[in-house]
Amino acid sequence: MKIKKVKKDKAIKMPGENSCLRNRGIEYYRDDDILPAREYMDKVKVLLESLPYIKQYSGRIVVVKIGGSMMEDDSNMESMLNDLVLMKYVGIKVVLIHGGGKQITGMMKQKGITAKFIDGLRVTDREAVNIVRTVLMDEINSGIVSFLNSQEELAAGLSGADGNFINCSKKIYIKDGREVDLGFVGEIEYIDTSIIKDILDRSLIPVIATLGSDSCGNVYNINADTCASGLSIALGAKKMVLMTDVDGIMEEIDGGKRIISRLTARQCINMIEKGKISSGMIPKVKACIKALNEGVERTHILSGIRPHSILVEIFTDKGVGTMITGKDSE
Ligand SMILES: Nc1ncnc2c1ncn2[C@@H]1O[C@H](COP(=O)(O)OP(=O)(O)O)[C@@H](O)[C@H]1O
Ligand SMILES: [Mg+2]
Repeated sequence: MKIKKVKKDKAIKMPGENSCLRNRGIEYYRDDDILPAREYMDKVKVLLESLPYIKQYSGRIVVVKIGGSMMEDDSNMESMLNDLVLMKYVGIKVVLIHGGGKQITGMMKQKGITAKFIDGLRVTDREAVNIVRTVLMDEINSGIVSFLNSQEELAAGLSGADGNFINCSKKIYIKDGREVDLGFVGEIEYIDTSIIKDILDRSLIPVIATLGSDSCGNVYNINADTCASGLSIALGAKKMVLMTDVDGIMEEIDGGKRIISRLTARQCINMIEKGKISSGMIPKVKACIKALNEGVERTHILSGIRPHSILVEIFTDKGVGTMITGKDSE
């Protein structure tokens, strides 16, 4: 039977499907629907174009750090977490590290404590470290893990103090030649990656709150950018992506702000010295430089607010945000 002979009233449009013709329970294509429509060819093209990147990253570790500054908007967070789920399903071993700076400052304010920072590092006394633990683990980590696990088992949440896997000592910080007491801010001594590798081997995304502990049981707050570089190095990550609330490193040029697409380690140091990179951006560039020096292939600072910026960065040749490179010639 020719399709054309099917009466019009037998055509059934199924929700979300192509309009099709039915006769005696059999479905037929319409004449104009035998070749896939252009929109589908476009989708296939996008998939094929991402193949080289999927090949490059499949089976490799990508460490993604999300800052507290980009967590304010739930729909934005959900969209970003869904991007990570996609990355996981194409075989990338995603390790998610989160800070929670804004939320910690918010809770401290509620308790009448003023947050204090030195070069982007939070001064953390005993009371503050308890607030940091509560906010990072009870609110942020559990929120991310339950979102990821709401459809199927996708994530396992932990902090670096669990099993003492991020071993710390008290950070000695020197500013302008003088030692500054940052309180319970941890300096990473060593990271036992076996627990993270176990989670990855189970095809789960480790979601890590940036706490660490020493062998006496003291818990420390570790700057999340510093922690991301420590973990990237220890895990031999291919790429480290620091996602934040700005599009990348910016510089004022001719009265306007421009996003820098690529910066070398030396240029970054120069910008810090000139005060062009300040506050929370300092630990980020330092984290990128350390990671590059110790074997991580690529480091990026990009927006966690612009939808799908991480997918554009990984699966296309379009640069987004700022890539920090180790060598001047790169
Ligand atoms: N040169 C710079 N370019 C962009 N942002 C900068 C620069 N210098 C300082 N910053 C600040 O760094 C902030 C990001 O760090 P931070 O607030 O700690 O975010 P996160 O929570 O993601 O760690 C930006 O919102 C911006 O205010
Ligand atoms: Mg920060």
